[in-house]
Amino acid sequence: MCGIVGYIGKRSACDILINGLKRLEYRGYDSAGIALNCNASLTVTKRSGKVAMLETALLQDVDQQVVENSVAGIAHTRWATHGLPTVENAHPHLDNSSRIALVHNGIIENYAALRTQLQKKGSVFVSETDTEVLAHLIGSFYSGDLAVAVSEALKMVEGTYGVAVIAVDAPDEMIVARRGSPLVIGMGSGETIIASDVSAIVAHTQQVIYLQDGDVARITATGADVFTLDQCLVDRDISEIEWEIDAAEKGGFDHFMLKEIFEQPEALRNSIRGRLDKDQGFAILAGLDLTPRELASIKRVVIVACGTSMHAGMVSKYLFEGLADLPTSVEQAAEFRYCNPLVGADDLVVAVSQSGETADTLAAVRESILKGALVAGLCNVVGSTIARETGRGIYLHAGPEIGVASTKAFTAQVTVLLMMALKFGRRRRLSREAGVQICREIESIPEMVARVVEQSDAIADIAAEFADVEHAFFIGRGILYPAALEGALKLKEISYIHAEGYQAAELKHGPIALLEPATPVVALLNDIPGREKTLGNVAECRARKAPVLGVVTEGDFETAASVDRVISVPRCSAYIAPIISVVALQLLAYHIARIRGCEIDQPRNLAKSVTVE
Ligand code: AGP
Repeated sequence: MCGIVGYIGKRSACDILINGLKRLEYRGYDSAGIALNCNASLTVTKRSGKVAMLETALLQDVDQQVVENSVAGIAHTRWATHGLPTVENAHPHLDNSSRIALVHNGIIENYAALRTQLQKKGSVFVSETDTEVLAHLIGSFYSGDLAVAVSEALKMVEGTYGVAVIAVDAPDEMIVARRGSPLVIGMGSGETIIASDVSAIVAHTQQVIYLQDGDVARITATGADVFTLDQCLVDRDISEIEWEIDAAEKGGFDHFMLKEIFEQPEALRNSIRGRLDKDQGFAILAGLDLTPRELASIKRVVIVACGTSMHAGMVSKYLFEGLADLPTSVEQAAEFRYCNPLVGADDLVVAVSQSGETADTLAAVRESILKGALVAGLCNVVGSTIARETGRGIYLHAGPEIGVASTKAFTAQVTVLLMMALKFGRRRRLSREAGVQICREIESIPEMVARVVEQSDAIADIAAEFADVEHAFFIGRGILYPAALEGALKLKEISYIHAEGYQAAELKHGPIALLEPATPVVALLNDIPGREKTLGNVAECRARKAPVLGVVTEGDFETAASVDRVISVPRCSAYIAPIISVVALQLLAYHIARIRGCEIDQPRNLAKSVTVE
């Protein structure tokens, strides 16, 4: 969940590392640190808080000759697992001789036992972290070959890691390795930049190597040699990053989240482009790589995912069952991985993950492959672990999502899942005419989303009326039930308002006890089947004096008259309604959080990519 960046080359390492950390800050932001290898010594600077604090420290407290002249270094922005976000616990960590520095993303599960062993041999630890133990372990194996020392140490480690290591005695190289935490090597001209994701690399080069689990690499200014922990060389392809640096910048918006909300029409066009056969009413999803026979043999779809991606998966249950007659279950990935899941050859397991790195979703993928299921990935990040390990799947092509609160990934996930359901449906029971109609609806999604986004200012006015509340409920039914869950998640994660999503009828089985005039209910009332019933639930809420904000189809005056405040959304079919409604709820959450002065792109305690259990 942390951000790692490393540099070796001819330019000032410090500038490149700090800029890289700023781009990675969304991965963790409770403390940051940097180690610079200069004039036969390591200069380590760490601060708790954001990267800006580290930047100030480098200006004020560090010899500027080191800052300007270092041509190799490693840096880290942390999401704390072991120990508070203090300076002592911040990375980089040093070995016992202070001649080796390490940054790490992941968890060393057997760190306590290793720590005791190392203490017996004289190690003195200054932090509470598992990472410092790994630094000392590498130091204990070091006798001139850093790659060998790192490999030997990693053989003793249980857990996950993405690491970058430098040593005073080896100023021309850096060793990196991964197991369970991503690491990418950017191949520049006369310089090499490594990072935990490409957003820290893309400003310098588009050419990258994605390390695989078990890989170790010796990095120099001219390239990288990749090998196994047993020092056997392996071949890794060089890939091209598909997007440009502007995609990872705010581009005039106050926050990445707002930019990403506004980007949705374009992101969705990219997700849809080239994937619809409008003549045959069919979806072309080559990456799924399923033969007609395999397609026909699927008896069940099982979605594994977490958070927002799970909500998108919950929407897809209605799509696969409604369009393709395919029974679908949606499993929280952390539950799935430990429940000895009943999946096999007749099941298609679909792992939905924006980052493609979520630890629990990845473990669910591995368990499903082991059990012989067909497994597909639905990822946004190209080259991510889930995309690679599933081997078959569909990329969202939504562009980089930097805001911790997921927005465009959700709408792209639902859109792609709808295309999947169309493809499966046409192979099973949908007529060509029905397929052609669904193609038209899918094509209209970007335009409809654009019409919701245009209402940002109007939604901001409504947000102002609700910004002071401490609790809120979101209700929906049928395909809008997951949309209610997603609306509540968006609000709680960025505004810190306690928000709960419920199936509309479920409210009166307990939660209705909490309703009172200061607790609003946001009701999803699009004009699709189920609206009448939800209106009944709205009446129950209003009878308890809870104010109701309705998301209502344009022109549906009767429904609008049944609630206290209204956000209007375009008329659309039930399959598209969750996308349209969630965009309105994203804007509602955004504006409420902005009014409350919250750190929207980096909410407290969160990180973008959850690579630990
Ligand atoms: C949503 O806003 C969250 N940041 C979070 O729930 C996220 O969707 C979840 O951690 C899953 O991430 P993934 O899609 O990268 O697997």
